[in-house]
Amino acid sequence: MPLLEVTGLNLFVRGSQGAVQALRHLSFKLERGRSLGIIGESGSGKSLTVQTLMGLQPENTSATGSILWEGQELIGYTERQWQSMRGNRMAMVFQEPMTALNPVHTIGRQVAEPMLLHKSLDKKTALQAAIGLLERVGIANASARANDYPHQFSGGQRQRITIAMALACEPDLLIADEPTTALDVTVQQQILDLINDVAAERNMALILISHDLGVISQNVDDMLVMYGGQIVESGPTAAIFRHMAHPYTRGLMAARPRLDVPRQPSGKPFDLLTIPGTVPALKDLPRGCTFAGRCSFTQERCFDNQPQRVGIPSFQPQEAEYSSLGVHQARCLRPEAMRPGNTEAWK
Ligand SMILES: Nc1ncnc2c1ncn2[C@@H]1O[C@H](COP(=O)(O)OP(=O)(O)O)[C@@H](O)[C@H]1O
Ligand code: SF4
Ligand SMILES: [Mg+2]
Repeated sequence: MPLLEVTGLNLFVRGSQGAVQALRHLSFKLERGRSLGIIGESGSGKSLTVQTLMGLQPENTSATGSILWEGQELIGYTERQWQSMRGNRMAMVFQEPMTALNPVHTIGRQVAEPMLLHKSLDKKTALQAAIGLLERVGIANASARANDYPHQFSGGQRQRITIAMALACEPDLLIADEPTTALDVTVQQQILDLINDVAAERNMALILISHDLGVISQNVDDMLVMYGGQIVESGPTAAIFRHMAHPYTRGLMAARPRLDVPRQPSGKPFDLLTIPGTVPALKDLPRGCTFAGRCSFTQERCFDNQPQRVGIPSFQPQEAEYSSLGVHQARCLRPEAMRPGNTEAWK
């Protein structure tokens, strides 16, 4: 049985002009010891997805569908039930570490707190365990530094401390929502390596959100590509990077800033490719394919018909890759348009 099985998950947001659908029919699975990446432009629904998995979605929303945790339904959980899951069975590492840390408490106390709450350890034992975790995440001289406050640490060290907090109750699922976006480039890879290492050591399931395809390609077994609150492509990371089957995924790849191309004297890149148009507001999404209009292969029927997820054959057969998600799929009415060798122009 998978640790997490999401089926037909929808999230509706109530606003002054009625309800809009922010998440659409999300379905995916995740097993212990596996990692899942979620990628998409800003506003595509990545954060709302993981917030909903943790019962942390905004108050003006309602979720329908199913989130099974070891076979038990989480949709409909009371706040009290969610509290027993969060920090205990599932934990989150946020984009900006200062939002997770309390500036007026020592870091030793903050890392120890979840263990006092969920594990009923006494204070001294919890503090000792917290120091052990701080050592594990690379805080030098941890027993002395446990008495320091968050502002006495660098951004990278603070993110290490929030990772120690997330690990305190030995959760089964670790969720990291753009955990390196606020950090210097030089420490980003160290933090990603740390997250991957601790997840592997403890056989946890990992969900890593990023808007950077490079980060996803190097750090996760399986991936979901999100656009307009929908999963438009999913499958083993290696299979998707061998053949991007959805035009949106291909567009994300083309729009990536490249470090290895020459730049203008101002430092700006030349002719950076972008996906034409902007992400439409949720209330303005087309009735059919959410990407219709921005996609180079759009036909009339794309505006009216919702594409289903279709299986994508492997174009370079390799040894079958194991995937929590099952096979490589894309949500497109014209998957043949992306086949290698198709000469249809990319607008
Ligand atoms: N509390 C909220 N009320 C209304 N709309 C929201 C709220 N939170 C997020 N949204 C909208 O939902 C969409 C997805 O947001 P989000 O999940 O934060 O995107 P991402 O993390 O991919 O950048 C966006 O269009 C955003 O404006
Ligand atoms: S369904 Fe049509 S508009 Fe949507 S991604 Fe496929 S070809 Fe493009
Ligand atoms: Mg986000």
